[in-house]
Amino acid sequence: MNDLKPLKSSVGQPAEGKDKYFPREKITKKILRKLEVGENILISAPRRIGKSSVLKDISNNPQSGQIIKYMIVQSVDSSDEFFKKLFNELLNDQQIIKGIKGYLTRASNEVKKYSSRITGVSLNGSVDIGVNERIDYYYECTELIKNFEGNNKNILVIIDEYPDALNNIIKNDKKSATKFLQQNRDFRGLTSDVNLQFIYTGSTGLKNIVTKLDRLDLINDLNTIQISPLKKDEATLLIQRLTLGFQEDNKNFEITTEIIEYILQKTTWLIPYYIQIIVDELFEYYEEHEKTIDKGSVELIFREIVKSKSNHSDYFENWKKRLKTAFKKYDYSFAIECLNTIAKNNTIEYAVLHDLSIKNKVKDVRYILDVLEHDGYISENEKTYAFNSVFLKEWWYINVAT
Ligand SMILES: Nc1ncnc2c1ncn2[C@@H]1O[C@H](COP(=O)(O)OP(=O)(O)OP(=O)(O)O)[C@@H](O)[C@H]1O
Ligand SMILES: [Mg+2]
Repeated sequence: MNDLKPLKSSVGQPAEGKDKYFPREKITKKILRKLEVGENILISAPRRIGKSSVLKDISNNPQSGQIIKYMIVQSVDSSDEFFKKLFNELLNDQQIIKGIKGYLTRASNEVKKYSSRITGVSLNGSVDIGVNERIDYYYECTELIKNFEGNNKNILVIIDEYPDALNNIIKNDKKSATKFLQQNRDFRGLTSDVNLQFIYTGSTGLKNIVTKLDRLDLINDLNTIQISPLKKDEATLLIQRLTLGFQEDNKNFEITTEIIEYILQKTTWLIPYYIQIIVDELFEYYEEHEKTIDKGSVELIFREIVKSKSNHSDYFENWKKRLKTAFKKYDYSFAIECLNTIAKNNTIEYAVLHDLSIKNKVKDVRYILDVLEHDGYISENEKTYAFNSVFLKEWWYINVAT
């Protein structure tokens, strides 16, 4: 373990930079491979599994000829705002600006004025804009991309929290949401003429939302990639490197191989976020008690993590809150009852599912279970369902089910 590099803990923001980011080579390679053959990608994975960290790593390390724009659209609630954000991102890049001189020269006065405000480059002195003129950002993005002369440059746009934007738009009206999806699809269609590609991601299942709109055809050109939890050897390495990071603060802090094994066994669903909070909590515990980390300390911090007033309660609360966005009344109460049963009994039988569906007047049980599975709450194994995460299960048991 001597030649391992220390890793600084990060539990809020995505892990970014060599001293914080734990490389996820397999998933990165897979993404790059798909991009290379021209695919547009949907990265689908539950909350806190490390999507943004992987994508930030990709965007911080562009391949040769690749221009990468990363945008978070969580608060976007209209198509216009979405394409305005994208337009700004595209204009905010010196390499892109070089390739769109022609487009900018031919653009309307208003666009010229707008771009010079964003880029700081004045195009033709002061221009008057009519009072009623306004910019159609979708159209302008399309024109900009069509006219991009990039000499073998490839623009990759990474859009984080895309399903949230779609959900916000749906709240206003469904028609606009369908139009938004259609525009995005048409925009991706430009890929065949220019080197433009997209990665969409977010923790809410895009497919589940689009299913509700009954327009899966508008996203079926996206190639879905899952981000899996860490393998056992990766999780071990992450714990070891984080421990080394904490040893820079207190050299006596140690987690033995036996304890690492115990942690992994207890954690089961090995997402980097859990590993981070466990090691973080163990270090806090060590600082306070100066007591060697043993199985008892691990038990103790596991109990702390799932308490209603723990530092991590927002994370668990969010799993409950999200169900409200995902489901309407009856489906919602069915989903809650299913999860309550699983939290209490460790699993749920098909017969019980059936009874609950009748009690809650649920028509499409399959859809609800698919959402719960896809969004990472539960998974099916030999015809029974169980929570993926012991933490979520325990938290649910203490704070929701009882
Ligand atoms: N590769 C990694 N190296 C180190 N820590 C990581 C890594 N990936 C994730 N983490 C840990 O998990 C946390 C969440 O990561 P990240 O924000 O990338 O996940 P996400 O899937 O985008 O989450 P959300 O669904 O909340 O947007 C980070 O703050 C960090 O603690
Ligand atoms: Mg994220």
